[in-house]
Amino acid sequence: MKVATHQLRCTECGTRIAGSAVNSIFRCPECNGLYDVIYPWSLIPPSIPNGDIPASDSKLPNPSALRWLWQERRTSTMPVDQSGVWRFRDLLPIVDNPEDVVTLREGNTPLYDLPRCAKLAGIDWLLAKHQGMNPTGSFKDTGMTAALSVAAERKFEWVACASTGNTSAAMAAYAARAGLRSIVFIPEGKIAWGKLSQSMDYGALTLQLKTDFDGCVRILTDLVTRFPIYLLNSVNPYRLEGQKTPAFELLEQLEWQVPEHIIVPGGNLANGAALAKGFTEMHHLGLIPRIPKISIIQAEGANPLYRSLQENGGEELIPVKANTRATAIRIGNPASWRKALRALRTTGGWCEQASEQEIALAKAQIGAEGVGCEPASAVTLAGLKKLVAQGKITREERVVLILTGHTLKDSDYTINYHRGELFTEAENAEISTSDQALHASLRKPPVVLEADSDVVLHTLESHMNMKLSQPVTTA
Ligand code: F0G
Repeated sequence: MKVATHQLRCTECGTRIAGSAVNSIFRCPECNGLYDVIYPWSLIPPSIPNGDIPASDSKLPNPSALRWLWQERRTSTMPVDQSGVWRFRDLLPIVDNPEDVVTLREGNTPLYDLPRCAKLAGIDWLLAKHQGMNPTGSFKDTGMTAALSVAAERKFEWVACASTGNTSAAMAAYAARAGLRSIVFIPEGKIAWGKLSQSMDYGALTLQLKTDFDGCVRILTDLVTRFPIYLLNSVNPYRLEGQKTPAFELLEQLEWQVPEHIIVPGGNLANGAALAKGFTEMHHLGLIPRIPKISIIQAEGANPLYRSLQENGGEELIPVKANTRATAIRIGNPASWRKALRALRTTGGWCEQASEQEIALAKAQIGAEGVGCEPASAVTLAGLKKLVAQGKITREERVVLILTGHTLKDSDYTINYHRGELFTEAENAEISTSDQALHASLRKPPVVLEADSDVVLHTLESHMNMKLSQPVTTA
């Protein structure tokens, strides 16, 4: 039975097309806009032209029935039900045969409380939805299962993406599961080794181009117009259908109590928009009474959206030559900036930036709570601190950080930080005395010692601030 009931709608001019009619670069031929996936029950803004949308309230899925069904599927042994993306498939009917989806049981990620980080930021209640706990270690898996399932159903043999490392790891894994061939375009020398090793492990053809991420995108966009290669960058709107499902899962985990604020890192700027779509759809269907604010945080060295909002109110994007150690978000000309801007405006969130030093401190503070994440994810805590300091988030508001990648993705960064080798002298000089003290208390470099009990004992004494050479009394 065919269950795919979607269309694609241009987010700029409103033109609607069948999913199968989309071109290879996923851009509207009329206005170059990106597409959103829409369903018969989607909320269509009245200002959109071509208003013959067949949306009818009688077709709205029933919220109580959905909640019950999603809960019920948790006990199933079927892969499609065990997936934390496809468990919600009623709200992403993008494939004809859901039983055939390509899944690694993605999603189902934990929600952790971060009481010490909350205190540091000056709020009472802070949670982290850890998308780094996905099968390939990043949030990209939720989008990849969706778009790659579409590619497989449409009988593509080759798939490709340009990536700062996580998309490529996810694509390579899902392509391998489906028996498809994959090509990865990555900027040479500017991605973390853990991520590069993944695409090789999963059998992708890995091309390291002598350019940055934005240069890789340009080359790939040209290639897919000439060869039958399925593009899996986040301009592909099916990716966002998967990436909206953590919003459903989060609300389920919170027993449908809506937090005030969600904070995401911003790179190519698709993920904030994907989550906003998820929350908006839940609101439209009556699953939640309101939509949380979504804020996007960029690295200071890769801040085109932040800068555009400051300099021209978001009228035009000001591309930048990106440079940050948070290599996942080292992007200067993000494809989905208009979608991200819409997400900020419709939810009432903000865009902030975080310096290299602020990112490193936040990452160490998240790590010190036993959670850990990759540098790009830590911008969320750094941004939260600023939004609280500016009075945009108040103490009693409930905030959820989306941690997008696993700490082991970039262990070099972590080791360099703890050894005190991450920053240049000039960067060190910019750190305030109070932050220097915080860094010093967080750094845990390995201690190299002679294999001698007395030497070890003396070192422990100095670290534990107690005398261990005396017998321990328990009185
Ligand atoms: N966090 C991590 C760990 C990422 O890998 C990315 C993007 C982002 C945040 C930003 O998400 O692009 O939707 O704004 N990584 C892409 C990649 C670009 O190729 O792996 P975004």
